Amino acid sequence: MPDSVLVHSPATLSNLGCGFDVLGLALEAPYDAVRVTRSATPGVRIQHLDPYHLPTDPAHNVAGVALLALLKAAPDAVGFDVEITKGIKPGSGVGSSAASAVGAVVGANALLGNRFSKMELVDFAMEGEAVASGARHADNIAPAVFGGFTVVRAVTPAIDIVALAAPPLWVAVVHPQIEVKTSDSRKVLPADVPLKLATRQWANVAGLVAGFLTADYALIGRSLDDYIVEPARLPLIPGLAAARRRALAAGAIGGGISGSGPSIFMLNKTEATAQAVGTAMGEVFTELGIEFHVYVGPVATEGARVVSA
Ligand code: HSE
Repeated sequence: MPDSVLVHSPATLSNLGCGFDVLGLALEAPYDAVRVTRSATPGVRIQHLDPYHLPTDPAHNVAGVALLALLKAAPDAVGFDVEITKGIKPGSGVGSSAASAVGAVVGANALLGNRFSKMELVDFAMEGEAVASGARHADNIAPAVFGGFTVVRAVTPAIDIVALAAPPLWVAVVHPQIEVKTSDSRKVLPADVPLKLATRQWANVAGLVAGFLTADYALIGRSLDDYIVEPARLPLIPGLAAARRRALAAGAIGGGISGSGPSIFMLNKTEATAQAVGTAMGEVFTELGIEFHVYVGPVATEGARVVSA
């Protein structure tokens, strides 16, 4: 058994339009690099080798909190030292906190002979997500652990994740450089939903899952719409309507807000279309005078994995 492992833990899209807190998709890139080393010193020590000034106190760091949860279930493990190099910018809406939390627990589990199941790793990592956003949601954690396309069927009383393969897809994400905190963008959400809207929404969720399972891109495209969460968050995401219009004109299948924003994602059949869609969405933010980054990449079939000892 090695004493130290390096894990790559991927960015993820959560919600996928209509599937608030339920649906998720793993991306090939960007990813966080997380080195986990066993230590004879009890507890967890975190070091960040990136420019983002994230907290290093394990009680306030997503990876630290996730590892403390794992240590509670494996007291014989004693302690871990963790070095995190974030490839995913915090607050970008592509599962930055989930990637670090998942990378840490996948690394620790490898050092413990993989004694925990993926479902248990989701449970530990979700403790970190609760610190980051104030809510125990697993829609970024699940695809970061399992890869592909995931459905969080339940988080209580027990975690129940359905891990599915995704058809070949290329994702274009535009990340405008504005801050939208997940905790704030959850505060604007309605507490109650009219039955009529709820019916349309769960019809779309069913259509989207069926579209993924049958690689029916047209069905995916017309099922992504979110009638409940996106309208409430729209004022927080400048350029969303224009970015969607131009992305669809450039050939995207469809898309929406990535997680709680501010990023916007679009699904595409080919790399060339995804590149064109990324450029088209970028032009909207150039016109608005807002700096942005564009990521283009394929969906990842695998979740976080050990890449070297
Ligand atoms: N499902 C979450 C939300 C994802 O939309 O608030 C945020 O990380």
